[in-house]
Amino acid sequence: MEVFENIFAINHRFSLFFLGLLLLLASALSLANAKTHYHDFVIQATPVKRLCKTQNSITVNGMFPGPTLEVNNGDTLVVNVVNKAQYNVTIHWHGVRQMRTGWADGPEFVTQCPVRPGGSYTYKFTIQGQEGTLWWHAHSSWLRATVYGALIIHPREGSSYPFSKQPKRETAILLGEWWNANPIDVVREAARTGGAPNVSDAYTVNGQPGDLYSCSSQDTVIVPIDSGETNLLRVVNSALNQPLFFTVANHKFTVVGADASYVKPFTTSVLMLGPGQTTDVLISGDQTPSRYYMAARAYQSAQNAPFDNTTTTAILEYKSSACAAKNCSSNKPVMPPLPAYNDTATVTTFTTSFKSADKTLVPTDIDESLFFTVGLGLNPCPSNFNKSSQCQGPNGTRFTASMNNVSFVLPSNFSLLQAHHQRIQGVFTTDFPANPPRKFDYTGKCEPVPLPACCWD
Ligand SMILES: *[C@@H]1O[C@H](CO)[C@@H](O)[C@H](O)[C@H]1NC(C)=O
Ligand SMILES: *[C@@H]1O[C@H](CO)[C@@H](O)[C@H](O)[C@H]1NC(C)=O
Ligand SMILES: *[C@@H]1O[C@H](CO)[C@@H](O)[C@H](O)[C@H]1NC(C)=O
Ligand SMILES: *[C@@H]1O[C@H](CO)[C@@H](O)[C@H](O)[C@H]1NC(C)=O
Ligand SMILES: *[C@@H]1O[C@H](CO)[C@@H](O)[C@H](O)[C@H]1NC(C)=O
Ligand SMILES: *[C@@H]1O[C@H](CO)[C@@H](O)[C@H](O)[C@H]1NC(C)=O
Ligand SMILES: *[C@@H]1O[C@H](CO)[C@@H](O)[C@H](O)[C@H]1NC(C)=O
Ligand SMILES: *[C@@H]1O[C@H](CO)[C@@H](O)[C@H](O)[C@H]1NC(C)=O
Ligand SMILES: *[C@@H]1O[C@H](CO)[C@@H](O)[C@H](O)[C@H]1NC(C)=O
Repeated sequence: MEVFENIFAINHRFSLFFLGLLLLLASALSLANAKTHYHDFVIQATPVKRLCKTQNSITVNGMFPGPTLEVNNGDTLVVNVVNKAQYNVTIHWHGVRQMRTGWADGPEFVTQCPVRPGGSYTYKFTIQGQEGTLWWHAHSSWLRATVYGALIIHPREGSSYPFSKQPKRETAILLGEWWNANPIDVVREAARTGGAPNVSDAYTVNGQPGDLYSCSSQDTVIVPIDSGETNLLRVVNSALNQPLFFTVANHKFTVVGADASYVKPFTTSVLMLGPGQTTDVLISGDQTPSRYYMAARAYQSAQNAPFDNTTTTAILEYKSSACAAKNCSSNKPVMPPLPAYNDTATVTTFTTSFKSADKTLVPTDIDESLFFTVGLGLNPCPSNFNKSSQCQGPNGTRFTASMNNVSFVLPSNFSLLQAHHQRIQGVFTTDFPANPPRKFDYTGKCEPVPLPACCWD
């Protein structure tokens, strides 16, 4: 990784006038300290052993999870992705507001065609007005199960965090999902059979399942803390599908940010993150020096739908504890209570605690009103399908994701952005409905799936 000053490196040939103008502009935009960070991401198959078995996982640079990128607000990232794997791939910079850099956003066939095996693509974008934690992940099929990493955005150089206690340490906590299988095979099987994809075999913290799984204790992640100090935990739900609870035994969190925005601080003992979400929390070393489990497991409100009900753990370890100094693998960490899988009341309390850090102006003049329902429904078995092998959803149906009852079909020749930009016909239509075709109870009270008649009209 190399860092270059982006303003001054290239303009020896410019006249002094232009240089002066540039400098003026740069300081006016307070970009004087902005840097450009260059990275190479080599997408490659790498043996990764978890839960007693080795998978030939797709990784970035052989790392699982992938490299952590650290920038300051205002910096530019240039990431050259080289695809040495056998699958098409793209990388999405999750949560980055791609201001005028739509080509760098990453969803395959939406903003770019995927990078084919043997190909490469360079992403270039600037972080503008965002501070906190984001992450990056593959955006092609289910490669993101193993192709992901943290994207940490520090305050502008010379600035500090807008909360009173400046953290002594910072730790990224990436929650993930692990399959004892090739994740690509898992999603392909589901697409073929029409049934639900197999649920994961483990959740992970920074790629490690932790003490409660077989063959995993040796590699359980240790998060250090010292008595009296404040640490910033940057929690990311990098799981594919599962909303997760996260908690630490005997400790409270002060939530200070989410999705690279500061929030009005509030305390809680449990977080819930949907897939893709991030939450920044302060944790204080204010308990008896010892070892405490940090644990994550599913929040699952849909009844009768199978889910991975296992629990991943890492260990918050006081460096001052007698235990840390000596060999203390016999000293069992304290296990926190976790909310029930379907504890929607706890989730509601948590999610309604979020308030913006400052007064925020939002547009109030609405030109166009859109109402999107996003869901997983059931399609009847098409007549040319083999009912027993291709319609394994409930009652011989096929699971089908949709928005306003329209399913997304991947284009095969152009990305949507290219088709839009070059006015290429036949790739997308412009009649996407602004409202769902029928009203129903959107609150999810009318379980179980599939929706019985009571949910409609
Ligand atoms: C891979 O991407 C190319 C375009 O970049 C596309 O033509 C091809 O169909 C893709 N292959 C698969 C298996 O999706
Ligand atoms: C999904 O689970 C079933 C039942 O355990 C198993 O037979 C099948 O091989 C799994 N599929 C994949 C792709 O791992
Ligand atoms: C998880 O689900 C399995 C059945 O799928 C059940 O036997 C087991 O008791 C459950 N474990 C927990 C902790 O709920
Ligand atoms: C620590 O103790 C355990 C048994 O309690 C033992 O298996 C392990 O080898 C010891 N590790 C070290 C580094 O001494
Ligand atoms: C949560 O699940 C339990 C069974 O595990 C059930 O008894 C209870 O009614 C469920 N609560 C809600 C709110 O769905
Ligand atoms: C449908 O699939 C089943 C299971 O794969 C197979 O045994 C059967 O021959 C298939 N039927 C037809 C008509 O292809
Ligand atoms: C499956 O179909 C039967 C008969 O049509 C119906 O009684 C049952 O409610 C259906 N089950 C689901 C889960 O849709
Ligand atoms: C949803 O789409 C399916 C498939 O296109 C169609 O058969 C069904 O009638 C639609 N449902 C509604 C409520 O419009
Ligand atoms: C792109 O593919 C779509 C179908 O996938 C086809 O209808 C369209 O004609 C193609 N466009 C071009 C310019 O080849």
